[in-house]
Amino acid sequence: MSTPLKVGIAGLGTVGGGTLKILSEHADMLAARCGRPVVISAISARTRNKDRGVDVSKIRWLDNPVSMATDPEIDAVVELIGGADGVARELVEKALQNGKSVVTANKALIAHHGIALAMMAEKTGALLAFEAAVAGGIPIIKALRDGLAANRFRRIIGILNGTCNYILTSMWETKRSFDDVLKEAQAKGYAEAEPSFDVDGIDTAHKLAILTSLAYGCAPAIDKIYVEGIRRVSLRDMEFAAELGYSIKLLGIASQTEHGIEQRVHPCMVHKESPLGTVHGVFNAILTEGDAVGTVLFEGRGAGAGPTASSVVADIMDIARGVAYKPFTLPVASLAKLPFYGMENLRCSYYLRLSVIDKPGVLAEVTSIFKKEQISLRSFLQHSHKPGEPVNLVLTTHDTQESSMLHAIDAMAKLESVKEKPYMIRIENL
Ligand SMILES: NC(=O)c1ccc[n+]([C@@H]2O[C@H](COP(=O)([O-])OP(=O)(O)OC[C@H]3O[C@@H](n4cnc5c(N)ncnc54)[C@H](OP(=O)(O)O)[C@@H]3O)[C@@H](O)[C@H]2O)c1
Repeated sequence: MSTPLKVGIAGLGTVGGGTLKILSEHADMLAARCGRPVVISAISARTRNKDRGVDVSKIRWLDNPVSMATDPEIDAVVELIGGADGVARELVEKALQNGKSVVTANKALIAHHGIALAMMAEKTGALLAFEAAVAGGIPIIKALRDGLAANRFRRIIGILNGTCNYILTSMWETKRSFDDVLKEAQAKGYAEAEPSFDVDGIDTAHKLAILTSLAYGCAPAIDKIYVEGIRRVSLRDMEFAAELGYSIKLLGIASQTEHGIEQRVHPCMVHKESPLGTVHGVFNAILTEGDAVGTVLFEGRGAGAGPTASSVVADIMDIARGVAYKPFTLPVASLAKLPFYGMENLRCSYYLRLSVIDKPGVLAEVTSIFKKEQISLRSFLQHSHKPGEPVNLVLTTHDTQESSMLHAIDAMAKLESVKEKPYMIRIENL
């Protein structure tokens, strides 16, 4: 029998538990596919006597997960604790410095410290693998690094956060507010008690930074991403969107433009029947546009024990097979420092909702602001309303520069007849 790959698993929660389960239940199949067995040499978590859903009584327990980095009985470390810093970072750094390959699902760690970690891996020849860090069970990292490697990418667009997609889908299907649906999602365990990481777009930004790096050969730049979450999306906006033929999704978008690499995370209107417009609930999807291959769509479960562990174990199998690659495709020294794109340069169509007092001349005031900013109107919607109540005016534009749109919104917010800050949603053509 060939030499087994001995792994240490740090973190036995949702993903760690799923990883234990696959490694034990599929052990024979994995050994056959890798040409050598994968054995769990040691495990670690915070609490020793928790039920992990799998019998772990015969596996060596380590109180301190960081000790895996120097443990002679461990060839590769699987970090499933989480967090950009703290124990997870210390463990990964020490393991790589000691020449032990690392598998992690930790997008925050990779988005913030990926380059420093990749340099450590390069120095010692260890592998740093993070397929599970982006879109859970969807093998998008391997696809960008391997299967689509012959392409220049025009755009990468993803629904990368299942919690946000669940909330938006549920708001629309049950006709409830963001706050109501968020509370329900928290009760069901789909959203964290502290939801801002998800609903404010930060988690999507972490994943987008990693995808941008792989697609465009640059270092992940989380601080160069425009980020706007879904808290301001209302059922009213969804109803207007549907009337216009759109649904609303939180998208992470990276694209190559004449001004540099554009990276943005924000709610978007996409055609209801478009490939991303039909991705609902907790599902994730990523649409890639390559110059040679054209459009390729990946869709699947972006979180949960089974899907995420599926990607973790695939990375462990790469290590067992002796597969070698650079974490961000290119050696760190060759990663470009591309000029990044400011949102003011963005050109797209916009949806704009204004809550106004219905009186003669309001529309003329609004259109004169559009004229001053050279914004061309594409459509206009207004519903009947009760006398004395503010009315929603909905306008969509042809392609417009973001800076013009922002000036127009500032000017409109100052109008006496406009009752609340106008809300705009960008429209993405897919
Ligand atoms: N959940 C998903 O669907 C998903 C999807 C993609 C990526 N990820 C990523 O996967 C990683 C793990 O997520 P998860 O959802 O599995 O988290 P989780 O369920 O909260 O599990 C975290 C595990 O880490 C252990 N842990 C926490 N602090 C520790 C410490 N100081 N020392 C030792 N062990 C510690 C916990 O121990 P106890 O069990 O004893 O408390 C627990 O076993 C994160 O980076 C996350 O972003 C998760």
